[in-house]
Amino acid sequence: MDYLKTQSVDSLNGTIKISGAKNASLPLIAMTILARNSVNIKNLPHVADINTLLKLLSNLGAKCDFLDDRVVVDTSTLTETKATYDIVKTMRASILVLGPILARFGHCEVSLPGGCAIGQRPIDLHLKALEQMGAVIEIKSGYIEARTPNGLKGCDIIFDKITVTGTANIVMAAALANGNTTITNAAREPEVVQLCEVLNASGVQIDGIGTAILTVHGTNGKLVDIEEFSVIPDRIEAGTYLCAGAITKSEITLTNVEPKHLGAVLAKLEEMGSTFTTTQSTITIHPGQNIKPVKIVTQEYPAFPTDMQAQFLALATQADGVSIIEERLFENRFMHVSELQRMGADITLNGHTATVSGKTELSGTDVMATDLRASSALVLAALVSSGETNIHRIYHLDRGYDSLEKKLEGVGAKIERLQE
Ligand code: UD1
Repeated sequence: MDYLKTQSVDSLNGTIKISGAKNASLPLIAMTILARNSVNIKNLPHVADINTLLKLLSNLGAKCDFLDDRVVVDTSTLTETKATYDIVKTMRASILVLGPILARFGHCEVSLPGGCAIGQRPIDLHLKALEQMGAVIEIKSGYIEARTPNGLKGCDIIFDKITVTGTANIVMAAALANGNTTITNAAREPEVVQLCEVLNASGVQIDGIGTAILTVHGTNGKLVDIEEFSVIPDRIEAGTYLCAGAITKSEITLTNVEPKHLGAVLAKLEEMGSTFTTTQSTITIHPGQNIKPVKIVTQEYPAFPTDMQAQFLALATQADGVSIIEERLFENRFMHVSELQRMGADITLNGHTATVSGKTELSGTDVMATDLRASSALVLAALVSSGETNIHRIYHLDRGYDSLEKKLEGVGAKIERLQE
């Protein structure tokens, strides 16, 4: 198993190129199931989750050619409709194939994703919406078995909660349904917006893109022709490297980034004392001399993302004063706290709220990554810890960060990947 060894440095300096967004790539790859043609997708990140989804599609019979940052997916040869446990257990987002496979083939089986490190993460809203569209769904032997005896029919869906992959799944199912589907309380994340934009440009009319009410005009089973497109930049990867600049008080420039997607993150970093120079596709962080404490509540886009909570918690350990960080989306997303405490952080947890008292001197030790974003919080803390930090179980990190240690090394970090 790989681990990362890091040593503290005085500061970082330089430029980091941001990769394509993992969370945009996953639904966009699943979307190729709706296509009649081979689909070219550019600017894909090299992360394990993408390989997992491509493997899932290949197992179902699709042809996937992944070279550099580009993949060509041909689903015309896809015949199997069962996403098996061995793949789904490694990546919950495998559930994204349910909507498009069901819409195209009229039946689909997907292993039921279990709980995960950050909480229960049910998929009841995906299933309820598909049932409203006419699917018959049974849970048998750990599998979701779905079929559509009379096809999928457009209808009005009101999500009880905003769900990102739930919205993506239903948009894809609705794309081939008979009639119009209106989704109220839809997710507005940029990754959902891109899925809708690509489908819209491919002839599936979608009204209300970027709003909480989407109307998808179904093609009544007609597969779509999807033109080549490029995945949007990864706003969470970008936010993580901005935190690296802030925590080490270093000027770092990000390229291939979309500043518009980072509004809430930039606002919080500004409150903490940093300023920024932005162009259409670059952001340079100018860190303040001192880091100020902050109050953060995680919410759905465009508010502050839960996927940046762990990184800001690490940053708050270096702020002068008390920060309050409240996690509203996931029930158990504070696993990184105990590891940060082992490095010397002063954090008190009370239910969904972490109180971080700074500034604390952190010291390097052996720590364990527990989930994807928790891993990057440990890397950030390690950058400013005295001595050496070994971060174990970085397979979590590899699920979503493209070449993290190379990108950080490129701006002067002392970080290397080693084998246990
Ligand atoms: C996606 C992102 C993940 C991010 C999360 C929240 C991908 C691949 N993953 O995850 O990185 O942290 O959005 O921004 O894009 N819920 C239900 N029932 C459902 C579905 C969701 O109760 O059927 C709840 C969840 O438990 C959670 C909340 O709704 O509390 C939001 O979850 P959701 O938006 O669905 O997260 P994911 O799409 O799994």
